[in-house]
Amino acid sequence: MLVAPSILSANFLKLEEEIKSICDAGADLIHIDIMDGHFVPNLTFGPVVLQNIDKICQKPLDIHLMVENVPFFVDLFAPLKPKYISVHIEETKHLHRVIQQIRNYGISPAVVLNPHTSQENLKYIIKDIDMVLLMSVNPGFGGQKFIPNVIEKIKRLKELILLENPQCLIEVDGGVSDKNILDLKNSGVDIVVAGSYIFSQKDYKQAILSLKQ
Ligand code: DX5
Ligand code: ZN
Repeated sequence: MLVAPSILSANFLKLEEEIKSICDAGADLIHIDIMDGHFVPNLTFGPVVLQNIDKICQKPLDIHLMVENVPFFVDLFAPLKPKYISVHIEETKHLHRVIQQIRNYGISPAVVLNPHTSQENLKYIIKDIDMVLLMSVNPGFGGQKFIPNVIEKIKRLKELILLENPQCLIEVDGGVSDKNILDLKNSGVDIVVAGSYIFSQKDYKQAILSLKQ
């Protein structure tokens, strides 16, 4: 299982140091939460910050768009050539078109489901995407409590994936810690995002290892 630390919980006053330490500590991807103050009640990073992060980061970027006007933000961040761009199914009006838009940049498209959204909504799009991101908190903030019914959703999603697109990965985001990592692993998750759990510890390497073991 891969670990993608979310830099939302990093210390922004020493962001360069934080990014370098998390890369050295064994992060597989760097998860970047883009929030616009409309789709979610919070604001985070713009393209200038991300261009600077990209300069010092040796790991692939995993961009999670929590925004309205999704196609605009895809065009804004695609030049950074992240590994993934994830878009929320709840906000993306023409999902199939946006997935092609991401794919045309040579980037892997992923679809995000909020905690209340059923995996059944993916039936006619699952063949076109490389990853599904399941939210295990309501998007907008780090440090929230894990919503346990995501475990059942992972299992149902896994069935759909095996049937329709076995290459498609499952990523889980929100409230991930050493308390739920085993359940996540046993349900078939490929990538976990973890923010507060990792950045609240002194030793990032140990924190990432504790999720991988
Ligand atoms: C929440 C974000 C998450 C967040 C996770 O909207 O999508 O990526 O940073 O933070 P933790 O791991 O603290 O729940
Ligand atoms: Zn996220």
